[in-house]
Amino acid sequence: MRSVMKIGLVAAALLATAANAALDLTKRNNMVLYWGQNAHGSYDNTTSKQQQSLYTYCQDPNVDAISIGFLNSWNATDGGQPLVNFANSCTGYEKFPGTDLLWCPTIAADIQACQLLGKTILISIGGYSPTYSGFASPAAADAFAYQIWNMFGKGWSYYRPFGSAIVDGFDLDIEVQPSQYYEKFVYRLRKLFEADGSKKYYITAAPQCHNPDPQLDTALRKANFDAVFVQFYNNPNCAATAWTGKGGDQSSNSVFNFGMWDSWVSSSAFNKNMKVLMALPASNKIVISGYVSKAKASDIVADLARFKSFAGVAIWDASEVWVNTGYITQVKSALNAVTALGRRGTGFFRWYM
Ligand SMILES: *[C@@H]1O[C@H](CO)[C@@H](O)[C@H](O)[C@H]1NC(C)=O
Ligand SMILES: *[C@@H]1O[C@H](CO)[C@@H](O)[C@H](O)[C@H]1NC(C)=O
Repeated sequence: MRSVMKIGLVAAALLATAANAALDLTKRNNMVLYWGQNAHGSYDNTTSKQQQSLYTYCQDPNVDAISIGFLNSWNATDGGQPLVNFANSCTGYEKFPGTDLLWCPTIAADIQACQLLGKTILISIGGYSPTYSGFASPAAADAFAYQIWNMFGKGWSYYRPFGSAIVDGFDLDIEVQPSQYYEKFVYRLRKLFEADGSKKYYITAAPQCHNPDPQLDTALRKANFDAVFVQFYNNPNCAATAWTGKGGDQSSNSVFNFGMWDSWVSSSAFNKNMKVLMALPASNKIVISGYVSKAKASDIVADLARFKSFAGVAIWDASEVWVNTGYITQVKSALNAVTALGRRGTGFFRWYM
């Protein structure tokens, strides 16, 4: 994911229909948006087109989950706390004293309002900008898991950017070296989830399409992730733009390689039942390459029905897909058609084996 990092660039009616709209990895029609970086603002300052509130996007009945990016620094020089960046959102509030850590009461309220609509809200850790540098030791990874659980989960800390709001999980968009010890971090978070037990928490990751992913491969082999939002863009060989057509070859990095991910999950991932979502960019203006139209994205979705691990689409990012009229609606309807096929009679497995 590209973190645009332009700080200061610009300044419940659907309850009934949205009630069952949480991330549900037993289904194949999940629609996830990334929110927080105002990708649209990276090339256009038009006020009405800038990233809007989290709640604006989670009210869309087609959206099941939102991943908020990013927690983008582990250990700031100022105060030793992690840092968050949400571009044009969360401006105008005081930072936690002695730190550069933002306090974001409007996002906090929106998280709770979105959760009341049944939406799943993740905090995404990492991002494309090299503002973080991994873990020096297994003990550092373990301690960081406690720290962010206390900041965003059901633990407690003075330093809670979202106050009393409790996220539904953690997404690892690790794009920067070193890659060591993320499995320790995930292992500890899982233990904390188990000890809490009050709700289902998720661990997801956003690897690049090229497999093995240089940053996340080890963690995905050694730790329990629920799903990956594989970035099928920016890497021209394996991107959505390199799809070879319905029923075509997807088994190597030199073509759109969802099929390669699908078989990798069942052979090599720690969680052999991990789900794979196709992460796509909302336009070609916010990524280097890899954008496909809503019509083509829908055709690819229909083709992915043959893969057991397929569980939906993730989109980078909310601000940009909002100005790409009809994109979410059309892709979600393609996803719903996959679910319908999968449910027909007892033939669920026929469709992808
Ligand atoms: C957006 O506005 C800022 C500040 O006025 C300016 O520096 C920047 O060049 C503008 N960006 C675009 C893409 O228009
Ligand atoms: C942050 O810095 C402290 C002091 O150097 C260190 O003990 C800790 O492991 C670091 N945490 C992370 C997550 O890097």
